[in-house]
Amino acid sequence: MTVPVLRRAALLVGLCLAIPDPASADAPGTAHPGIWPVYHYPVIRDAAAEARIADLIARMTLEEKIGQLVQGDICCTTPDDVRTYHLGAVLNGGNSGPGGNDKALAPEWLRLADAYWTASTDRSHGGVGIPVMWGIDAVHGHSNIIGATLFPHNIGLGATRDPDLIERIGAATATEVRVTGQEWTFAPTVTVPQDYRWGRAYEGYSSNPALVSHLVGAMVRGLQGPGDGRDLLARGKVLASTKHFLGDGATTNGVDQGDAAISETELRDIHGAPYGPAIENGVATVMASFSGWQGRKMTGNAGLLTGVLKDRMGFGGFVVSDWNAHGQVEGCTNASCPQAVLAGIDMVMAPDSWKDMVTSLIAQTRAGVILMARIDDAVARILRVKTRLGLLDAGAPSTRPLSGQWAQLGSAEHRAIAREAVRKSLVLLKNDGVLPLRPRGHLLVAGDGADDVARAAGGWTISWQGTGLSRADFPGATTIWQGLQAAMAAGGGSAELAPDGHFARRPDAAVVVFGERPYAEFQGDLKSLQLSPDLTAPWETMRALRAQHIPVIAVMLTGRPLFVNPALNAANAFVVAWLPGSEGEGLADVLIGDARGRPRHMLTGRLPAAWPRTARAQDGALFPFGYGMSWRDRTRGWAALSEDAGVAPVADIRRWFGNGQPASGWSLRVESPDGSGSTRITGVPATALGGRVQVTARDYGVQEGARRFVVTAGPATIALMAPAPLNLSREANGDVQLLITARVAQAPTRALLGSDCDGVACRADVPVTLPVADRWVRYGLALKCLARHGADMTRLGEAFRLTLDGASDIAIGEVRLGNDAEQELPCP
Ligand code: BGC
Ligand code: BGC
Repeated sequence: MTVPVLRRAALLVGLCLAIPDPASADAPGTAHPGIWPVYHYPVIRDAAAEARIADLIARMTLEEKIGQLVQGDICCTTPDDVRTYHLGAVLNGGNSGPGGNDKALAPEWLRLADAYWTASTDRSHGGVGIPVMWGIDAVHGHSNIIGATLFPHNIGLGATRDPDLIERIGAATATEVRVTGQEWTFAPTVTVPQDYRWGRAYEGYSSNPALVSHLVGAMVRGLQGPGDGRDLLARGKVLASTKHFLGDGATTNGVDQGDAAISETELRDIHGAPYGPAIENGVATVMASFSGWQGRKMTGNAGLLTGVLKDRMGFGGFVVSDWNAHGQVEGCTNASCPQAVLAGIDMVMAPDSWKDMVTSLIAQTRAGVILMARIDDAVARILRVKTRLGLLDAGAPSTRPLSGQWAQLGSAEHRAIAREAVRKSLVLLKNDGVLPLRPRGHLLVAGDGADDVARAAGGWTISWQGTGLSRADFPGATTIWQGLQAAMAAGGGSAELAPDGHFARRPDAAVVVFGERPYAEFQGDLKSLQLSPDLTAPWETMRALRAQHIPVIAVMLTGRPLFVNPALNAANAFVVAWLPGSEGEGLADVLIGDARGRPRHMLTGRLPAAWPRTARAQDGALFPFGYGMSWRDRTRGWAALSEDAGVAPVADIRRWFGNGQPASGWSLRVESPDGSGSTRITGVPATALGGRVQVTARDYGVQEGARRFVVTAGPATIALMAPAPLNLSREANGDVQLLITARVAQAPTRALLGSDCDGVACRADVPVTLPVADRWVRYGLALKCLARHGADMTRLGEAFRLTLDGASDIAIGEVRLGNDAEQELPCP
């Protein structure tokens, strides 16, 4: 044998026996638990509790065990279902409320909690009757509930850098959650966003792993109490859930639910870091991420969920998956995914798919696809958490401490904490000395965000996206305008509100509040770091005021740092307020000084993420992470910043038709329902289908901002063709709607709203009613409904089609995706 051959053989043997090395050529998405840190999970496992859990498991049927592993949404799960299928938990997604009403009042939440609990503990037919728990996204206060205190979203809390404050926020949130009977919040989000185009970036404290890690433990303690604490219910606490494990803030281009194409060390050091303090503070649950790592979905990644999180990091609670996220795991559907449980998911969040999930898990366990030991381990983990909560011995939700104490919701004490948080979260980027203001003069308050709690509260507020809300939905809250007005009055001055800046009395100074609109998953994703062009009108107001020698203070409501150089140039002072929530006075506390113009509060807020120089992060930071002026600092000799965003403003890709035009690359057509006789409408007036359809312009928003379709004899189809096939499957899972803003002068005898695929047949035509109205109405049809009617949501070509029978006269102002329908169209 020659030496080279020997060497080659040795090499081969070496390869086969190789200890996994992170740098080696393992399959993508393979974790190496040995390189991850070890933590101490403080929750005590006492022998009596363990014996009780073992006894329960020994007496449970397979059906009872599997039920514990599944969580349904209250949209689609009745108390009877909980009884029949022994479900371990329910949740309300962002759009669900008792009786299908997002805006249901607090007592209805508690009543429903009782109904679920009563059903779950019904042992009249035998069975162990384990009490159900209810999980809710109390992510910035008990934010689904009308009247609750709304704290700043996490990015604002990151700016405070104040763990003591954050712990008090957690405690106040736990109290408010307990008032309405839930036991578990899907918070805190401990993401470490690296790309602020991601629409969920504001749910995270910071882009800096050390800062996130510094704050996480405080929130977990605030919500749950001490890491080794027991009987959480008796102490007015709730379970926390750190999410989304792992790398949700690492997705390429900041795409929601996307893939993190990063190394294992980066995953560990940046995104994994906050799980250390979470585990060491005894976090009870961890939610797995929708996103993937190196092309593999996290929900199916055993190496990370079991190898790293449970075995290496020592996490002793249970892992819950995210909203039908299992359906995105390779080889899975919403109805069936043994891979998720095998990977280490202990509870499957199957909002509307729970029944199929129960059935498939039972069958897979019977068939030995999932071993009973894995099922028992998952059940034991869930029961341990329930035991720690004190749930097994607690009475109905309404009988527990704090339940029904409605005065705790938005109490003065909690609002004071929120107001303090607002003060401490403000970051001053510019001040030529105009701040703090003296309360003696006359103040103009302008900008479209000044008197709007919904804008200040952002997403995950009452509704999922934080849209569709009015002032009446925020009893007890104070807008920024109201806070400023009160502070001016208290100091002997006066204030006036004029959103467009047209004041009645010449002011001594003006505060102009502008910024982002509320958004959450998907809908907040951006192509570049800039405000949508329709939100920049207040910049004109600032310039106009400056031209009249009125000092301008810009206040920005935003979930993230964005390119706003024109506003920075225009204003004398610039304050980033993030998404401050319900206590607008917090701004006045800082902006308005004492009678002599001295500060009443310190300015301690510092940027939790770098502020971009242009709309492209790669062009570098204008203000670095950690920047923020204090009262001693003065901006002198401001050199005008370039107002070039570096990229063209991009239209919203969710807007398919607006301003009288299809979106770029799209086409508007009028055709027969079968697609024949198709006429592309490029200009108006136009006729189609041999004169049976006339297309003209109508005003909507802007001049000629709509198209009017007069059909003398149907059927006729108005269609929008996408430039390339669209995949809207995640939006459909997320309850996004197809929105059409229309004004109907003559109603068709029958209308079908739908979509079709490109190339293959997948037509969905949903019968809808579009009655005559003398105003514009934004109708919404759930994308889910199109799927139910046969659309393949992964490849829509003719993404929008409206078929009209008989004679009709309809103007269409806008077609887009969204969640803010004025009128929802039922799905037959
Ligand atoms: C989100 C989670 C949330 C869950 C329940 C998911 O879509 O990603 O953060 O907790 O829904 O609403
Ligand atoms: C729910 C959210 C959930 C989302 C998933 C929505 O319908 O209301 O809670 O996070 O779907 O994408």
